Amino acid sequence: MTARGGQLYDRVWDRIGDVARLAPTPHNTQPFRIVPRGPRNADLVVVRERLLPREDHGNLYMAAAFGIFATALEHAARYVGRDIAIDVAPLVDIANLHTASRRVLLGRATLSEPGPVDPAETRWTMRIEPRDGLRALLETRRTSRLPYHDRPVLGASTSAMAHVAGVYGHRFLSFDDAALVRRVLRLNTDAVIDNLQLGDEREEIRGWYRYGDTPPDGDGLWERPMNQPAWELRSAFATPWLYRLPGFRQFARRRYLRTQRGTRHVGLLCGPFVEWPDLVHAGRMLMAFWLEMAAHDIYMQPMGSMLTNAKYADAIARQFDVDDCWLVFRFGYSDVPPRAPRLRSIVEHE
Ligand SMILES: Cc1cc2nc3c(=O)[nH]c(=O)nc-3n(C[C@H](O)[C@H](O)[C@H](O)COP(=O)(O)O)c2cc1C
Repeated sequence: MTARGGQLYDRVWDRIGDVARLAPTPHNTQPFRIVPRGPRNADLVVVRERLLPREDHGNLYMAAAFGIFATALEHAARYVGRDIAIDVAPLVDIANLHTASRRVLLGRATLSEPGPVDPAETRWTMRIEPRDGLRALLETRRTSRLPYHDRPVLGASTSAMAHVAGVYGHRFLSFDDAALVRRVLRLNTDAVIDNLQLGDEREEIRGWYRYGDTPPDGDGLWERPMNQPAWELRSAFATPWLYRLPGFRQFARRRYLRTQRGTRHVGLLCGPFVEWPDLVHAGRMLMAFWLEMAAHDIYMQPMGSMLTNAKYADAIARQFDVDDCWLVFRFGYSDVPPRAPRLRSIVEHE
């Protein structure tokens, strides 16, 4: 490989990484890296220190986040005019990822010239999306923790979302009964507050909270995208015991619920979510689903705390009579939410 060739392949991977870094990750930890091995090949690795093993029991959601990343990579490659094949490592010891080596290989990516697009492909695969539209959609997809506009989502949009989930063999369940939506939002608030009392989970999350103005590049959860003032976030970590006092808990609950006013819908995603290949597949589904929402101007806020806490996961299972739900979220129309920063580069040249 000549130096010039080397620069060329590095540039391709940098351009792909620049788009793929828009993939969402739990707590915006951005643990995945592209390690170029040649003009057409790269390793895809996870950075151990960026996992959340205390909260994300068994690293299940991080495994799914790799699926999200894989889908983002496919769109990113298409954006730079290439096709990409991603070979997911067949055997990954997910449960012990956080005790493994600093970098763990999760997959390999191979670039090729783009093949012809089958006109029968539907828009959600994004193979027929114009390149600029592709990037715009990836930028438009965001988590919205803002109040939502108090109006129902169009039935055609929820049908399109259900279609995407179904294509991947998952189920999207959507609920708009006002009392039920209220109950779920309250349950989530209780889960968030209760989880604050779990010392090791709290300390793990604390490391990902960021205060002050959101920078253009970075990671973690910043106060503006979180839609919570710094004092509130700081007090949650500094004096979690306060939240055990009934009066204060009530006050905190009300404040949190105020940020979610206007929510008309909660959604559930259900399907296989235990084994490594299923987790990656679920993540791929989530990214396709989330981008479909973005195409319909719909935002969501995942409510992960509920499913990482066994007590609340149980309550959800009983409430909705499902035993395979792996994501609960609220969704609807909202103002454009503040952007969560991304690391300047996720490409590691060795
Ligand atoms: C699997 C998964 C679980 C998440 N769980 C939560 C959650 O419980 N609460 C929340 O507010 N955001 C949650 N998020 C949203 C992330 O914090 C968000 O994607 C990240 O900060 C990047 O922001 P963006 O989605 O606006 O690009 C979750 C995201 C993913 C991928």
